Amino acid sequence: MTGGRTPRSTPYDGPIYGRWVEPMLAGVHGFVAERLPSGPRVLDACCGTGGLARRIAGTGRRVVGVDLSPKNIAYAQRRAADAGIGGDRLSFEVADVATLAVPAEGPYDVATVVLAIHEMPTAARARVLGALFTVARRVMIVDFSTPMPWNLAGLKTRMAEVAAGRTHFAAFRDYQRRGGLAPLLADVEATVESERSLDGGTLRVVVASAN
Ligand SMILES: C[S@@+](CC[C@H](N)C(=O)[O-])C[C@H]1O[C@@H](n2cnc3c(N)ncnc32)[C@H](O)[C@@H]1O
Repeated sequence: MTGGRTPRSTPYDGPIYGRWVEPMLAGVHGFVAERLPSGPRVLDACCGTGGLARRIAGTGRRVVGVDLSPKNIAYAQRRAADAGIGGDRLSFEVADVATLAVPAEGPYDVATVVLAIHEMPTAARARVLGALFTVARRVMIVDFSTPMPWNLAGLKTRMAEVAAGRTHFAAFRDYQRRGGLAPLLADVEATVESERSLDGGTLRVVVASAN
């Protein structure tokens, strides 16, 4: 793998993420699937166990899900097969999003990346976002607000980030300290088309395109 990260799974990936964490994100995934910018071909970057990708495929679009974790991708493939969705409509691959190339058919209409940027090492964040604005015409990003509010939803988010382990919490703190999405989008020279908050102000939802 050149310039990116090697595929790897954490102990929480696969069944634990799929059964316990993914269901907690059902509301966010529904919001994204309903408000996705138009176009038939979608990349779900950092797709985890594939819950959002399955939902989007259910709306009739063609979806490719990509994740670094072999355990998450194996689980996502199993769930898609169980749901009888496959072939061209929904496929998954293990890859570092930072190293993706534009598909032979041309760029995706939309890429989604949900709750993944904040957990990446600092340097990987702009590399991944930069790659997404190359392989897709528009990118819909959901990630934590900065600053994180001190309301009930903000306290729950902090507790969940602590529970995810020391490395994960350090990345979350670093993301907060650096101002979250706004400086990253400026860094990759993206044009923000729309922006709103969700879940008690703990999440930012941004749709942006390459300049
Ligand atoms: C918190 S999970 C979110 C998963 C999914 N987007 C969801 O909404 O359930 C973050 C995911 O990002 C993946 N990830 C992190 N860095 C990545 C990279 N550079 N390329 C591909 N996947 C990556 C991790 O393996 C993990 O599955």
